[in-house]
Amino acid sequence: MAAAEEHDSSAETLQTAAEEEEAKTFKDLGVTDVLCEACDQLGWAKPTKIQIEAIPLALQGRDIIGLAETGSGKTGAFALPILNALLETPQRLFALVLTPTRELAFQISEQFEALGSSIGVQCAVIVGGIDSMSQSLALAKKPHIVIATPGRLIDHLENTKGFNLRALKYLVMDEADRILNMDFETEVDKILKVIPRDRKTFLFSATMTKKVQKLQRAALKNPVKCAVSSKYQTVEKLQQYYLFIPSKFKDTYLVYILNELAGNSFMIFCSTCNNTQRTALLLRNLGFTAIPLHGQMSQSKRLGSLNKFKAKARSILLATDVASRGLDIPHVDVVVNFDIPTHSKDYIHRVGRTARAGRSGKAITFVTQYDVELFQRIEHLIGKKLPVFPTQDDEVMMLTERVSEAQRFARMELREHGEKKKRKREDAGDDDDTEGAIGVRNKVAGGKMKKRKGR
Ligand SMILES: Nc1ncnc2c1ncn2[C@@H]1O[C@H](COP(=O)(O)OP(=O)(O)OP(=O)(O)O)[C@@H](O)[C@H]1O
Ligand SMILES: [Mg+2]
Repeated sequence: MAAAEEHDSSAETLQTAAEEEEAKTFKDLGVTDVLCEACDQLGWAKPTKIQIEAIPLALQGRDIIGLAETGSGKTGAFALPILNALLETPQRLFALVLTPTRELAFQISEQFEALGSSIGVQCAVIVGGIDSMSQSLALAKKPHIVIATPGRLIDHLENTKGFNLRALKYLVMDEADRILNMDFETEVDKILKVIPRDRKTFLFSATMTKKVQKLQRAALKNPVKCAVSSKYQTVEKLQQYYLFIPSKFKDTYLVYILNELAGNSFMIFCSTCNNTQRTALLLRNLGFTAIPLHGQMSQSKRLGSLNKFKAKARSILLATDVASRGLDIPHVDVVVNFDIPTHSKDYIHRVGRTARAGRSGKAITFVTQYDVELFQRIEHLIGKKLPVFPTQDDEVMMLTERVSEAQRFARMELREHGEKKKRKREDAGDDDDTEGAIGVRNKVAGGKMKKRKGR
């Protein structure tokens, strides 16, 4: 890999005065008229702080490290300068955006398309888990912007005839600290070898690695650091709570909270695919409209789940950390950390799925007897002591019988589901029916959980 200059330490940190920000428009930042109109059509009346800081510098051709809280418009902060530059010097395979998850890649592509619809921008989403052939065809048409997860992009760089990124002008790493993490090391290094050294590079995230070494891998050139906050922050309008409970009552407390906050949209994070699936089954047995999203589902099911939740056809999305970063679903009211995140930074991203773009939201973190240390680390990272979420313990305990019955059925369903999947695999089909109403659910007496009157 090419030697890189010193980055983090030499990067200037810019802080813009509040009153100056007030007056700024996208036009003031140097964004061309047609893109200003596009922002207007999206209802973006004025640029956000990170957009005010990053866009003018990006338009000047600087490399950027952009650090700003969740839901603060980082996507626009890198998409607008790229589209602006594309309009000035139109070219195919102009920019590459790397993201850690497939769902995020689709979302970023939608954002580019929404901003660039009137200028006819063409995007291709290159992610794993879906048909490679159609992606090869999309790449053969030479889109302007490629939005990709690293692994599948490498596949195409190595195996798709006629596709290369040798003329690339912009590289974006969204969720950059994640992309520069060890998990993606080989892929990212391979990609960096086959794109021009002479390009612009943008790194964006709500949490950034402080390790200069990691940043050096991105081979930035004299970057500017645009940091809207100096430390890792959770959003002001986010009310954060914790709940200290014995591990064996987690399910019961979850059901209590869902009843208590009925009428809201929830994202519930679990630590494993299995627990995500189990909890989804449990909740469905109790009559909640819950749907899972995790890495053991086929990509079509994953997107199906997400779309149902986005369309409000389901009010509860249960997910692993595959959904913790970047996803922009404005109507999420409550984030529940059913299993505490093991990496404190993931906490910031998970709770950032609510209270986006100036809205308010709630986050509740379950802390069991095993999680105290992890929880203290989270409080330390965000520099806050969280209050307890108030509960009526006698009311919680009244739920135990119903919950344990539903747990039993969920376990049976999980087993049935596992066996069915195994049989399917043996028959060479891969139709993992994650939401299919499996027989036993219907056997649960009573159906819907009774909501308390007046709530
Ligand atoms: N200038 C603006 N005015 C109003 N809304 C905006 C503006 N820019 C972006 N938004 C909206 O704010 C929401 C959050 O934006 P975005 O997803 O880019 O956040 P982010 O900073 O990337 O968050 P995360 O760290 O979670 O990825 C989106 O719905 C987006 O359309
Ligand atoms: Mg983002």
